[in-house]
Amino acid sequence: MIPLKVTTRNDRGPALLLIHGFPLDHRIWTPQLERLPSSIRIVAPDLRGCGSSPLPPGPCTIDDYARDLLTLMNEQKADRFYVAGHSMGGYIVFSMLRQAPNRILGAALVSSRALPDSDDVRKTRETVAERAEKEGPGFLAESMPARAVGETPPPGVLDRLRTIMGEAQPAGVAAAARAMAARIDSTPGLARIACPTVVFAGRQDKIVPPAESEAMAKAIPGARLVWCERSGHVPMLEESDLVTRELASLAR
Ligand code: MLT
Repeated sequence: MIPLKVTTRNDRGPALLLIHGFPLDHRIWTPQLERLPSSIRIVAPDLRGCGSSPLPPGPCTIDDYARDLLTLMNEQKADRFYVAGHSMGGYIVFSMLRQAPNRILGAALVSSRALPDSDDVRKTRETVAERAEKEGPGFLAESMPARAVGETPPPGVLDRLRTIMGEAQPAGVAAAARAMAARIDSTPGLARIACPTVVFAGRQDKIVPPAESEAMAKAIPGARLVWCERSGHVPMLEESDLVTRELASLAR
C-alpha cells in the first residue's frame, strides 16, 4: 500500500475523487477544492511519484495508479464514489471503470482521451522520461504551460502551472510518461460505461484535440459533453466556475 499524500474535505456523504494529470499534482484542483459546495466530500490525492507522494521502486502502469486509488478510497471508507480525471487522470478513470465499475457512481473526463499513444508519441514519451531523469522537470515547466492553455488564460494560471510542474519529482515524471506510453486503448470499453458521465472539452486544447473528446463523449451512452470555449488543456483552472458547477451537479 502506497502512503499517498491526500487532501480531503468533509468525511460524510458520497465522495468526489479528483485525479490530477501529468506532470501535475492535486493543486491543479485548487479552485474546485475552494469552491465546490461544502456538502460535497472531496478526496484529492497526489498520485504515486507526484506532488508529495512517494514513488515505489520499479516501473508503474496506469492500472497501478488506479489500484492505488481504489485502495485509497477503501481507506477513506468510500465504497462507492464519484470521480473526475484530468487528462492522464482520465486514463486512470478508464482503468478504474474496468477494475471496479460498480464502485463508480459518476465520472467526469476533463480534457482526456480514450485512444492510446501512436508509436511516435511513445518515442517522445521515452525522450521526456530520460530527460526528466537526467535534468529534472525544469524543461517541462518551461515549455508545457504555454502549450497547456488557450489564447487568453486568466491571470495566474501560467504561473501556477510553472510552479507545479517545476516542483514535480523527476523519477515520478519519468514513471508517468512511461505509464502513459504503455496504456491500452480504452475505446472498446466506452459503450459499456453505465454511470452518468460528463466530458469536458477545451475548444482551444492543443494537447488533446477537442474533436477526440467530442467523439469520446458520443461513444459513451448518455454522456454529457461540456464545451469549455475559452480553455486549452486545463479548464479546471481556465474556466474554473464552469467546471466547478458541472462537477457539483454530477456529484450532488
Ligand atoms: C496530461 O495533461 O495529463 C498529459 O498531457 C496527457 C498526455 O500527455 O497524454
